[in-house]
Amino acid sequence: MSTPTVDLRLLADPALRADPYPLLRQLRAASPLSLMDGMLVVAARHRDCAALLRHPNASSERARSELVPAGLPRGALSFLSLDPPDHTRLRRLVSSAFTPRVVAGLRPRITEVVDALFARIAEQGRADIVADLAYPLPVQIISELLGVPADDHEQFRVWSARLARSLDPQFADPDQQRLDAAAQAREEFERYFGRLIAQRRAHPADDLLSLLVHAESEGDQLTEEELLATCVLLLVAGHETTANLIANAVLALLRQPDQLAALRARPALVEPCVEETLRFDPPVQLTTRIARGPLPVGDTEVPDGGIAVLLIAAANRDPEVFDDPDRFDITRGGTGHLAFAAGIHFCLGAGLARLESAVALDAFAQRVVAPRLATPTVAYKENFNLRGPARLEVEFDAVTAA
Ligand code: HEM
Repeated sequence: MSTPTVDLRLLADPALRADPYPLLRQLRAASPLSLMDGMLVVAARHRDCAALLRHPNASSERARSELVPAGLPRGALSFLSLDPPDHTRLRRLVSSAFTPRVVAGLRPRITEVVDALFARIAEQGRADIVADLAYPLPVQIISELLGVPADDHEQFRVWSARLARSLDPQFADPDQQRLDAAAQAREEFERYFGRLIAQRRAHPADDLLSLLVHAESEGDQLTEEELLATCVLLLVAGHETTANLIANAVLALLRQPDQLAALRARPALVEPCVEETLRFDPPVQLTTRIARGPLPVGDTEVPDGGIAVLLIAAANRDPEVFDDPDRFDITRGGTGHLAFAAGIHFCLGAGLARLESAVALDAFAQRVVAPRLATPTVAYKENFNLRGPARLEVEFDAVTAA
């Protein structure tokens, strides 16, 4: 354990948004870092983060911690922020909608949406990869899965962005305003879903919303509050993260043209390319756990009630696990990153996010002729946890037919 030489609030510094990795390297070298009289411990090494994510004393019930008083919007908690047995019960209810077989069955629809987006990009003659591809694709697919009308996208785009901002932890950015905005967004979301749920009760359809409404009506499977929280979680989790993954991948490929050329030459590299992007530039940069009983982190431990901050983005570049970790190399083989976490909270949408990204990147690599960045620098969103480009302007010579 070492004394801190780096201020954790630097994580929130907008000047570091485009490239937080030098800071993350310093934090990793100094980790585990013990702050706040030992009540907050930063884990940045791969083996420490991997062990924490699977430790039985690592609780996800962040709202219970006094150290993160307003770190999460109030209201019912989604299972992302619950421990067993509630976590197990709620996760089981929706997991049938995300099995590998169900996800694989979505490929034709995902391809159709990607083709439509590229048709529009071709017509425009240039693209903002975020607005024209990375964002609309996951929003369209998760909306269809849930059974949310496509026309409402614009409305919940704003709410979703506000909720995503609230995942930037308080200890690094103690800005009450963004939390108030998130709480308000959650309320609006819940009112919105409340209306949809009432409709589905009257007229069930073949969608995830109807499945959850049915489970609720069966009695003891989930409460109405839990139903609302689950809907919000699925809609928001499927939004910003996958959008960031697709944008981060396109950016990395444009910055390393040899990698783009390799992908063009060998389309089978598309899945490894998605995995390498998840490792190299993860859409979720960190997560937290609360110690319920002593929680070991390397040679130190978080005492009961303390908080562990897991810097996933630092762990993913740990030289103990990855050779030459700062190099983006799509032939790496793609195992071992923690971008989707691990253990019982392992991302439920990982298969869906992987498939959407693979279809989008395959089309980008194979069909866009001579793509290049239109601007020398890339503007990032405010978020430092759900981090990604705000815009990604790309020029090209042509888009070939599907
Ligand atoms: C590239 C895209 C994505 C990334 C990087 C990502 C990342 C993560 C991470 C790191 C966690 C664990 C958080 C923690 O335990 O602290 C998580 C959980 C979760 N993700 Fe994702 N996610 C992505 C896409 C999606 C999609 C598309 C969906 C659903 C449509 C989704 C749904 C969920 C859910 C429901 C959980 C909670 C799981 C649980 O608590 O058991 N995610 N995700």
